[in-house]
Amino acid sequence: MRAWAVVVPRERAEEVRRTLLERGVLLKQVRIAHEDDSILLPTREHVDLGFPTKEGEFEEGFVAVRSYKDVIEVPASARRLLPSSFDVVGDIAIIKIPEELRARRMAIGDAIRRWNPKIGVVLEDRGVKGEHRIREIDVIAGEPRTTTVHTEHGLHYRVDLSRAYFSPRLASERKRIADLIEAGETVADPFAGVGPYSILIAKRRRPSEVHASDANPRAVRFLRENVAANRADRVTVRQGDAHAILRQVAPVDRVILDLPHSAMDYLGAAFRALGARGTVHVYGILEAAEEGEARDRIQSAARTAGFRMKGLSQHHVRAYSPTKYQTAFDVTVVRG
Ligand SMILES: C[S@@+](CC[C@H](N)C(=O)[O-])C[C@H]1O[C@@H](n2cnc3c(N)ncnc32)[C@H](O)[C@@H]1O
Repeated sequence: MRAWAVVVPRERAEEVRRTLLERGVLLKQVRIAHEDDSILLPTREHVDLGFPTKEGEFEEGFVAVRSYKDVIEVPASARRLLPSSFDVVGDIAIIKIPEELRARRMAIGDAIRRWNPKIGVVLEDRGVKGEHRIREIDVIAGEPRTTTVHTEHGLHYRVDLSRAYFSPRLASERKRIADLIEAGETVADPFAGVGPYSILIAKRRRPSEVHASDANPRAVRFLRENVAANRADRVTVRQGDAHAILRQVAPVDRVILDLPHSAMDYLGAAFRALGARGTVHVYGILEAAEEGEARDRIQSAARTAGFRMKGLSQHHVRAYSPTKYQTAFDVTVVRG
């Protein structure tokens, strides 16, 4: 096609390409051309940036787009604030948008869908709230739905991001825990959500039984559906508060306390649910300086429940804020 181009030295090409993109005048569907040591950046119109320009024939073709930022047209002041990453659950993108960009959220959603046409819906993530850890979300682009099917470690989970908690960021942690399960173990997962720990354990390891439960009835509906869809026969599903469920399912060999903001409150119930020995995985959202206090609390809860500590290790699952981590503690105990 015939177009104008800005002719720039090779070493300035990336910088000028970005300027043209920011101004919304780069012809993205047209191939960049080379002439001696210069690069010709095709533009929608004649653009004067102080570099020579040239009108000519350019090849149309695929242009590699590395980020949704390459297809959005916003002024430079807004571009600096664009989020660099977002989560993808099934075919839904979930993005946190800074307050200053709220007026442009639809443009951000549209750009994500143009960048990756496999994304059917873009949701604005306004934070996880309340006891049931439900995400406050708005559809900002695509179909008006919040349900999708997410694949993790080869297993399929139907989720509704407006009704039950799910985060794809914990996939490696779920795998780490599943890999620790020994044949014949009984596992309790009393904060199971839609089932990603329980179903992975049941399908990839050889437990004798996995007790999966949650207090949110909507999460339990998806949990039941996902257990059936993945044919995770060794999972028993219940609905209810973790304290009551742990009493009901005891004795077990392992308890997963995946409720990072208040899991420590369930330590007593988790230890009391163990048999002669066992392991508790407990999570916290902590400053590094608070980790010692958390270890003390774990040891004291184990002692009160009549156990000796055999092992206590910890690791950072992910950064939660500039100063806090989601931290996992693996606690192994024996009675006496
Ligand atoms: C952080 S989510 C974890 C979900 C799941 N483990 C996962 O990896 O997706 C915590 C879950 O605990 C549930 N929950 C909160 N308080 C509870 C309680 N007291 N008893 C049982 N479940 C509870 C919430 O409904 C939520 O589904």
